[in-house]
Amino acid sequence: MRIVLLGAPGAGKGTIAKRLSEYDGSVHISTGDILRNEVKNGTELGKRAKAYMEKGELVPDELILNMVETRLREKDCEKGFILDGFPRTIAQAEALENLLRKLGIGLDLVVNLDVPEDVIIERLTTRRTCSNPSCQEIYNVKFKPPSPDGRCLKCGWPVIQRDDEKEEVIRERLKVYHEKTSPLIDLYRKTGLLFDVRSPGSDEIVSKILEGLGKK
Ligand code: AP5
Repeated sequence: MRIVLLGAPGAGKGTIAKRLSEYDGSVHISTGDILRNEVKNGTELGKRAKAYMEKGELVPDELILNMVETRLREKDCEKGFILDGFPRTIAQAEALENLLRKLGIGLDLVVNLDVPEDVIIERLTTRRTCSNPSCQEIYNVKFKPPSPDGRCLKCGWPVIQRDDEKEEVIRERLKVYHEKTSPLIDLYRKTGLLFDVRSPGSDEIVSKILEGLGKK
């Protein structure tokens, strides 16, 4: 599958992307995860991205576009990909369209995960993430807890809270989403690729997306 997951911070993009990737081996590409690894490894890109991420602002388009183009040109993406957190601006959506045209491929679906804001705030303040860069399993202290001693059930690494999970940063991320990313919903609706999903549970969401792709 070749899909884009749209949705506010905490809408469940990462959770659903991991499930879809397990379904058919399509590669999960999270620009947020890639950036957090760059920050952790102290790379030039990480140093430039860090201040934006800590404030809940978007990292400048030019840094993101190079990063995504490099990733999408890697061999494993030929199996399909699930874009989580990209595109996030109109300029990024246009750049993605140009890149896919150059690669001679198109998107199958753009999924809009539509979740009420009170649910989002609740989910983000209770989320935990595996600190192992090659795992990054997503937990939630209420709905999907890690082990009792705070470790990942898949790889055993400690499970942590992200730096951008403070309430004031969450509010800024939501504001940025409404201003810069939500206009993509109408943009993709006009192309006929948009698929709205409002279900509460991850199982139902995955089933609906597979139905939308004609795989069920
Ligand atoms: P990024 O990492 O992309 O963060 P985000 O979009 O804010 O999304 P999140 O990862 O916070 O949430 P999610 O929708 O994946 O939800 P999750 O599945 O974890 O970006 C971080 C930063 O990087 C940005 O602020 C920006 O600075 C920068 N950046 C990244 N991409 C960029 C780009 N393209 N351009 C510019 N800058 C960029 O779920 C949340 C919680 O809810 C979890 O605890 C989960 O267990 C739980 N949950 C999920 N689904 C359900 C469900 N159905 N029922 C109950 N609980 C659920």
